[in-house]
Amino acid sequence: MVQILVINGPNLNLLGTREPGVYGAVTLAGIEERLRARAGSRAELQFRQSNHEGDLVGWIHEAGRNGTGVILNAGAYTHTSIALRDAISGAGATVIEVHLSNVHARESFRHRSTIAPVARGVIAGFGPLSYDLALEALLDGREGACA
Ligand code: DQA
Repeated sequence: MVQILVINGPNLNLLGTREPGVYGAVTLAGIEERLRARAGSRAELQFRQSNHEGDLVGWIHEAGRNGTGVILNAGAYTHTSIALRDAISGAGATVIEVHLSNVHARESFRHRSTIAPVARGVIAGFGPLSYDLALEALLDGREGACA
């Protein structure tokens, strides 16, 4: 079965109480539940969250080694982390970058992503549905066809 690793970065463990006007009321457990329901028997999902950049780097290496597709919400590291970008390109991992909020409609420091140039694609602004759309992109197998 297709293996997919869902990686959530810093502060996403606070979803549900964190800035609900921006991120809504959904918890990370809620996102996991709906994504598992959507995947059904089509994919085996693993969910991980960390507030530490090095954890995310290690998990991306692991996914690259194992050929596991990654749905990555790197939180604020999206905008700052060269280490994450290098991890993705170095490990050859297939990564879809996701965001709950439309980062381009927010502060200018959120408009830049260090990860986007090495990601297969970017999905932002659809709340929990962003994760679902990333799952469909990974399962479709034609992702990247318009690179
Ligand atoms: C986020 C957007 C980031 O700018 C922010 O730092 C987050 C969450 C999102 O899902 O909308 O932590 O990645």
